[in-house]
Amino acid sequence: MTADEECGERRGRLDGRRVLLVVAGGIAAYKAAELVRKLRGEGAEVRVAATAGALRFVGVATFQALSGHRVRHDLWDEEAEAAMGHIELARWAEIVVAAPASAHLLARFAHGLADDLPTTLVLASEAPLLLVPAMNRVMWLHPATQANVAHLRARGVTVLEPDVGEQACGEHGPGRLPEPALIVERVQALLAPGPGERFSADLLAGRRVVVSAGPTREPLDEVRYIGNRSSGRMGYAVATAALRAGAEVVVVSGPVGLPPPEGVRVRRVETALEMREAVLDEVRAADVFMAVAAVADYRPARRAAGKPAKTAGGLRLELVPNPDIVAEVAALDPRPFVVGFAAEADDLEAHCRNKLERKGLDMIAGNLVGPGRGFDVEDNTLHVFWAGGEVRLGPGAKTALARDLVALVARRLAERRRR
Ligand code: PMT
Repeated sequence: MTADEECGERRGRLDGRRVLLVVAGGIAAYKAAELVRKLRGEGAEVRVAATAGALRFVGVATFQALSGHRVRHDLWDEEAEAAMGHIELARWAEIVVAAPASAHLLARFAHGLADDLPTTLVLASEAPLLLVPAMNRVMWLHPATQANVAHLRARGVTVLEPDVGEQACGEHGPGRLPEPALIVERVQALLAPGPGERFSADLLAGRRVVVSAGPTREPLDEVRYIGNRSSGRMGYAVATAALRAGAEVVVVSGPVGLPPPEGVRVRRVETALEMREAVLDEVRAADVFMAVAAVADYRPARRAAGKPAKTAGGLRLELVPNPDIVAEVAALDPRPFVVGFAAEADDLEAHCRNKLERKGLDMIAGNLVGPGRGFDVEDNTLHVFWAGGEVRLGPGAKTALARDLVALVARRLAERRRR
């Protein structure tokens, strides 16, 4: 029986999904063969790009037979490029997995090098990147490798922790490639919802959804305030998607310059305290609360009358904490299905998991923010977490991501009701 006959006919959790597998040089490269087999066993289409080092451990014929496609390893291979150019291949991938990822490969990814085919493909791809390191324990624990991993994670790349155990070199410690079955699970988790879970017009029929959107303004006096750069685009996109999914939708909106989504009831507020009051009022009868608003964590302790004149010297402000609206909603009994958002400058996964737990949320959608991303732009990338699951949505237009997120919420809500 050929690998195609063995794997090609089966239908699984990765039906039709397109996985680009980068294999680096290391003894764990032999496990990449098993990974190809398992991915195909779940229905994925797999293309392999190997470094020169990888092909010293496992031959081209092995990956070719298992994947059913020519193995790519040379940026200058005219014949292979004519069949599918490297940019085309980078765009083809819905996810890029590097397993095993050697210390050298991690360093090259971290620094954006593109000095061979696999690194060029990664740099040319917008797909989620899953790195599965495997190496000698000293190399893994070396500060240079750890700094590269931290840097990659801060960029939103998912890096699995290697397993701890007996190593090929005879030493004991962290550095073993995790089991291929676990890697397949992470691939599935990181891929956007499949066609079966996609958006439809009746996903939230009969449900009531409350969305908070935009910034809050915390007044210093009658004309000045502390605010943030939220434009309301993400929140309004979520509200529109929920409406299109058949829900009755209320948006509690901070001050934004967007027209209200047609068919959605909008309650306009300015401060965090006003937003809290409106949200608590609306969620009592809601099935879902999605907290997309960028609520100010603090407000000035005092609001001055009029417009105090400039004085010589500096100005000291005393700030007091605002109530945490989403945590308060999550603590209600009964409560709606609660989805938080997290705007983070680094370490997205760690912060999201912490907020999911600390605020008692059902789900959290994290986005990296900084100059030109997250706030006040059309596109975004969301990394969504819930107990026992995660998925990457995007990069893409906020309107498209909102639809995927709403489809995900509808599925989780239905699962919760079935329990
Ligand atoms: O509006 P855009 O320009 O389109 O930008 C979109 C966005 C970046 C604002 C959005 O995608 C986003 O990340 N929203 C959440 C921003 C935020 O405040 O994140 P946070 O990590 O500080 O808060 C975590 C969660 O707690 C959020 O759901 C927030 O609404 C909620 N929160 C925070 C503070 C507070 N006092 N009460 C809250 O409910």
